[in-house]
Amino acid sequence: MSGKNKQAKFTQFSSYTNTVEPETEFVRHHDHDLKGQWGSRMFGNDRPIVLELGCGKGEYSVGLARKYPEKNFIGVDIKGNRMWRGAKTANEEGISNIAFLRTRIEFISSLFGSNEVSEIWITFPDPQLKEQRMKKRLTHPVFLDNYSRFLKPDGLIHLKTDSAPLHYYTLEVIQEGGHHLLEATDDLYGRAIQETDPDTREILSIRTHYETLFSQKGFAITYLKFQLHQP
Ligand SMILES: C[S@@+](CC[C@H](N)C(=O)[O-])C[C@H]1O[C@@H](n2cnc3c(N)ncnc32)[C@H](O)[C@@H]1O
Repeated sequence: MSGKNKQAKFTQFSSYTNTVEPETEFVRHHDHDLKGQWGSRMFGNDRPIVLELGCGKGEYSVGLARKYPEKNFIGVDIKGNRMWRGAKTANEEGISNIAFLRTRIEFISSLFGSNEVSEIWITFPDPQLKEQRMKKRLTHPVFLDNYSRFLKPDGLIHLKTDSAPLHYYTLEVIQEGGHHLLEATDDLYGRAIQETDPDTREILSIRTHYETLFSQKGFAITYLKFQLHQP
């Protein structure tokens, strides 16, 4: 992608009313104005809020937003030129229950208040396989602790990944943290998808950009659903 093209996408992304781009240095240390107020100020309602962390081009959030108008979706990623794709589609189609937040997930608890979020999807995150990068995994206990600050007590976390090491690492984190595992499969589109209920099957069949790439290469797609331990 040329620099000019990338810049045009950044500019268009910023011009949409459903995009938020806080200063990284600000949210590293301070709460954002929208914290605790996404429902009233972004969506004008108090419907459940669902986050997609590391949403990339945002196909999953857009797909879910089309399917569930009774919920609000927020795609989160650090790359505005990727999220531009989802934001553009949402604006062209007039999908009003979706927003995009450009920030580092490390600082996300500066953006959402206690009990503000009902569900979190983590879709094909960078697996960060090197030992010294373990703390960057989006299911590392430090991240889960961060999510617990704004996820409702019965809130759900979903992880879809093609990375078997990340899948099994997350299973260990769930077990060691005393979290509540609700579903686990290491081959979602094998037998497992036929065994889930039709609604879940339809949700899971929405494919992200990376998911399509990995599926075409023959990688098994894994899936976990869990709830955080309540102290
Ligand atoms: C492998 S891509 C997956 C994108 C999308 N979920 C999909 O399946 O097509 C991982 C995405 O996570 C984003 N990401 C990784 N670490 C992040 C972080 N700490 N904060 C914000 N975004 C992050 C990257 O910018 C990238 O778009």
